[in-house]
Amino acid sequence: MKWNLIFTLTISALFFVASIIVYVSFLNIYTAQFDHELRQLSTEVEKRILNLPALIRERLLTLGESRPSLYLSVEEVLQIFDLEGKKIYDIGIDVPDPPSFREGFSNENDFRFFTRILKNPRGIPVAFVRIGKNINGISRDLRGLVNLLGLLFAVIVTGSWLLSNVLSAYVLKPLRSSYEQLKQFTSDASHEFKTPLSVMRASLDLIPTEGLEQGALEKLGYMDLSVRKMQGLVDQLVQLAKSGGLAGSLKMEEITVEPFLTSIVDENRALIEQKALRVRVKADPKSQCHTASEPLRLILGNIVNNAVKFTPEGGEILIGMIRRGKTNLFFVEDTGIGIEESEQKRIFERFYKVEGSRPAGSGSGMGLAIAKEYALLIGAQLSVKSHLNEGSRFELMFTEKTVD
Ligand SMILES: Nc1ncnc2c1ncn2[C@@H]1O[C@H](COP(=O)(O)OP(=O)(O)O)[C@@H](O)[C@H]1O
Ligand SMILES: [Mg+2]
Repeated sequence: MKWNLIFTLTISALFFVASIIVYVSFLNIYTAQFDHELRQLSTEVEKRILNLPALIRERLLTLGESRPSLYLSVEEVLQIFDLEGKKIYDIGIDVPDPPSFREGFSNENDFRFFTRILKNPRGIPVAFVRIGKNINGISRDLRGLVNLLGLLFAVIVTGSWLLSNVLSAYVLKPLRSSYEQLKQFTSDASHEFKTPLSVMRASLDLIPTEGLEQGALEKLGYMDLSVRKMQGLVDQLVQLAKSGGLAGSLKMEEITVEPFLTSIVDENRALIEQKALRVRVKADPKSQCHTASEPLRLILGNIVNNAVKFTPEGGEILIGMIRRGKTNLFFVEDTGIGIEESEQKRIFERFYKVEGSRPAGSGSGMGLAIAKEYALLIGAQLSVKSHLNEGSRFELMFTEKTVD
């Protein structure tokens, strides 16, 4: 559905831009042609006046007597004014006198005029000659063009909508289904891993350690750590594979923000105490939020866990929420190791971890990929601002839907 809309909008926008280009080009060509004709007509008229015998020309230009034979069409008008602006002569349609005289083109009411100063054979200006032509024809043609483009636009919008449906049915469906299969496989495989891992963990716990030599004990310790790590990884894979299938079945709840955030912090209590971090939750105690609480807990849980992991001993972490209207902004700020600019996009990729300063027992690189996936699911934007060795601020922003 969303894909169809994007496709249709893109095609429509492209057509819209193309229409504007066609319209402007058409207007330019049309007016250029129109002006060329006006100018030609004006040159013709001027030639005829100047070719009259001197006496007749004199009478024409002072008294408006003796008319040169000019063939104007019904849509045209010729006016001659003396240099003071008094009308000497006009022929053709009746139009008001111009507000001022200036050589060149001008638009007056429904007419486009070309005004020129007429000079006698000795080069002395004697009169203004104005040729006007009705522009209703152009307006009519332009209106026709707009109507045509409008009609085409409707056809294109409908056509691309239909095309996008056909495309998604025949082209995207197989693609989507293989993607779904892949997700299903990941989900199934992860589930299958869970049982043997639990068995291994339980068996490890049951191995009697008395009388074992130091080397063997150490190896058991490594095995236990590795199995735990794999269990964590499998849990995350399940979460990731699950996110797609959750759309539409999300349980919306009214949560009170402060205790909600505090409970997320509490999940990391052990490490916080071990590292003597100062963690504060900052939210209005009365502040409520209507949202799918489980995905939100998962997203913020991953971000808070990172903040705790990547902040050195004695550091500070601030977790909070700001509400503006229906928009909620959750933030997690730390004074940790920070993330270099070039890494900031990549940390949201699956399995990506920044090279170097890795704290002991660090994770799989899946946390933020999961957070991003679930942010998408609840229609939230997840972003990061960070400076190396200074700290990071992760933000999660979403607008509550009014009706569900
Ligand atoms: N608050 C943070 N401060 C510094 N680096 C961070 C922070 N959060 C995430 N990172 C970096 O982004 C990487 C990816 O994070 P994540 O996907 O949660 O993986 P993981 O926590 O399993 O390493 C981390 O390995 C770390 O390098
Ligand atoms: Mg993490």
